[in-house]
Amino acid sequence: MKGLILSGGAGTRLRPITHTSAKQLVPVANKPILFYGIEDMAAAGITEIGIITGETGPEVREAVGDGSQFGVQVTYIPQDAPLGLAHCVLIARDFLGDDDFVMYLGDNMLQQGLESFIERFEADRRRADQPTLEGAHPAPAAQILLCEVPDPQRFGVAEVDAEGHVVHLVEKPEHPPSNLALVGVYLFTAAIHEAVAAIEPSPRGELEITDAIQWLIDHGRPVRHDLLEGWWLDTGKKDPLLESNRRVLDDLESRVDGTLDEASDIDGRVVIEAGAELVNSRVRGPAIIGSGTRLVDSYVGPYTAIAADCVITDSEIENSVVLERARIEGVPRLVDSLIGRDTDVRRSGQRPTATRLMIGDHCSIDLE
Ligand code: DAU
Repeated sequence: MKGLILSGGAGTRLRPITHTSAKQLVPVANKPILFYGIEDMAAAGITEIGIITGETGPEVREAVGDGSQFGVQVTYIPQDAPLGLAHCVLIARDFLGDDDFVMYLGDNMLQQGLESFIERFEADRRRADQPTLEGAHPAPAAQILLCEVPDPQRFGVAEVDAEGHVVHLVEKPEHPPSNLALVGVYLFTAAIHEAVAAIEPSPRGELEITDAIQWLIDHGRPVRHDLLEGWWLDTGKKDPLLESNRRVLDDLESRVDGTLDEASDIDGRVVIEAGAELVNSRVRGPAIIGSGTRLVDSYVGPYTAIAADCVITDSEIENSVVLERARIEGVPRLVDSLIGRDTDVRRSGQRPTATRLMIGDHCSIDLE
């Protein structure tokens, strides 16, 4: 079995962070989102992984390399424009050959690993090879993962009949037929190649994977489904990203490799990476402080991930994700925030007392 990870696309919903970098490389608990998917594949024994890249391809290549850091072999498949998830399968044809494969959306995060998802698919296919008293049991051509959500309009949605068969799939419907969203992890046999070649672009101009799966159903090729165990998040927006960060930090194991002076202390599950330094500061977990980051006269509260080489002085921050080399100075209370690389947030004390901004396009600021 091979793996296909989709790491192209536009990332408009995470602007301005994604003006300068790939949304799949935004860190959750100080690790790029994309790495969680690669690690899940490696843990399931998948060693050949194709990664679809778009405009941010060079950055993705630099972060992932040849895959050896994960014990896998990565093949990059550039996509000229984000023409849809089924288009990704189309251009990965040579890499995939006739093998079964797991397709994983590079901005999705799942609590459950891939092992049981793959095992159930393979068990069902083995069962199909053995005649039963009820007659032939056709082998599934694909398997999807579904999750009940309160806002199905934002996702691909599946309709399952009384016998438990997937009968209809629709992408981001205005009037959803159910509350079962398609999670961004799919299992396909080579049958999907015929489907992606047969479908037409949707009204939004994309080759939709939901249409390709519907094509399989319409052509008598059974599609299995599993209901998700545990949590799942599509991290493409700020709040779900902060939620992923909270979920991952919840499982953090404490480790202090950096230094604390006598006036500093930590409380709860906290990781202080090597080279990080706390001076008269307190960190209350779950929280992670990246290497080379300095906290001076500050408080870092629960569910915060501060990346490497940041400087936080005379400030308090909670439930936030701070990217590399950010500087935060004199900010008494910063919460629910996503702060990009090389940014400066500070209270200078300059007169007249005022808020002075130098912000880029597509930013969002919520003043106290
Ligand atoms: O998160 C689950 C949802 O993901 C599903 O419920 C939907 O059925 C599915 O279409 C997808 O919807 P999104 O609108 O969230 O897809 P997005 O455009 O964000 O793309 C998902 C990933 O695939 C993301 O990492 C970018 C990448 N991608 C996307 C497109 C359209 C590509 O690599 N190439 C593309 O052409």
